[in-house]
Amino acid sequence: MPAASTSVILPGATLGILGGGQLGAMFAAAAKRMGYQVEAISDVADCPAARHCDRLHLGSFDDGDFLGRVAGALDVVTFEFENIPAAAGRALAAVVPVRPHPDVLFTTQDRAREKAFLTAHGFACAPHRVVRSRAQLRAAVADIGLPAVLKTAAFGYDGKGQAKLCTAADVDAAWEALGAGPDGPRELVLEGWVDFDCEISVVAARGLDGTTAAFAPSRNAHANHILDVSSVPAGLPEPVLAGAVRTTERILAALDVVGVTCVEFFVTRDGRVLVNEIAPRTHNSGHLTIEACDTSQFEQQVRAVCGLPLGSTRLVAPAAMANLLGDCWFSSAAGARGEPDWAAALGVPGVRLHLYGKTQPRPGRKMGHLTALADSVEAAVDNVRRARRLAARA
Ligand SMILES: Nc1ncnc2c1ncn2[C@@H]1O[C@H](COP(=O)(O)OP(=O)(O)O)[C@@H](O)[C@H]1O
Ligand SMILES: [Mg+2]
Repeated sequence: MPAASTSVILPGATLGILGGGQLGAMFAAAAKRMGYQVEAISDVADCPAARHCDRLHLGSFDDGDFLGRVAGALDVVTFEFENIPAAAGRALAAVVPVRPHPDVLFTTQDRAREKAFLTAHGFACAPHRVVRSRAQLRAAVADIGLPAVLKTAAFGYDGKGQAKLCTAADVDAAWEALGAGPDGPRELVLEGWVDFDCEISVVAARGLDGTTAAFAPSRNAHANHILDVSSVPAGLPEPVLAGAVRTTERILAALDVVGVTCVEFFVTRDGRVLVNEIAPRTHNSGHLTIEACDTSQFEQQVRAVCGLPLGSTRLVAPAAMANLLGDCWFSSAAGARGEPDWAAALGVPGVRLHLYGKTQPRPGRKMGHLTALADSVEAAVDNVRRARRLAARA
């Protein structure tokens, strides 16, 4: 058999996904449709991916023996979640191809390492300093100035592990809140505050042969540090969008990614595009690709990690996505918990509903999302927001 065909993993093979959240569930749905078997590895039994996979392997990411046993039955492993110990990725990679390679996870799961990577390769990002003590934090604030954001290097998501510093009085409180851990000082990154015009992200895939395919940049509005609404086209000048796509493709090449990766950017008021962070997996801002693009980000992840040709990323229609947080369950008139009015939401033209099957709504928890397609991006954003308001009876 020619060497090239042995590297292609064809339908019928078994794909492993590390993590059991909604990104894993949507990956599994895409892979199942294409005729693959999918097995998820999670430490949570009742997870969204469990309902979409052929099998859930329940165990700890710290258990190398467990991971080694599971890997033996898989043809390739990818991930949907970054907070996986590097050792777990390496234990799997000793047995089965892991795509992207665990080194990519190692670099991007820690903000200090990620910033070092960006700086070493000349990718523009916010001014920053890595700090490991109160004295270093004070020195960094003196260097970078205020306002600034202090972030834990590891295990942050959806704005968790972050504090904004506006005045000198905030510095010590932020150190106490984030830096002074019970097991000794934690590593933190202080970032200068970026007075951005908007935030965008680019989801892109890179295949085994090094070819890349990027989806159109998405404009992202956050609320309380959590993604709220994404929309495409992003409505920015073409050179700004092309610059973000080029930077994303160069980052994927520099990291030697095989798979899907999202790069989040700040677009400054003077048109500069600064990298905010890198997620070496599918991304919340790419959910609208399910309905709005020729190929969804999840099918693209299947194609990339299986060594198949990447699919077309063409945008079929302007689109917007609104997250459905647990808050929607608590915003009925009486303030009591209630199932949102999905029928009302689905009455809005062009709206599609995705619920992840999580049984416990909690404020800030991502329970699902709505996508709207329309003739213009403005109409798509209006419709998806209206649908969400109707659902929440707000
Ligand atoms: N340096 C910064 N300047 C301005 N806003 C920021 C900065 N860092 C983070 N933010 C805001 O907080 C959000 C979440 O921060 P981010 O670093 O992306 O962490 P997370 O891992 O929680 O997504 C960003 O999307 C942005 O809205
Ligand atoms: Mg982010």
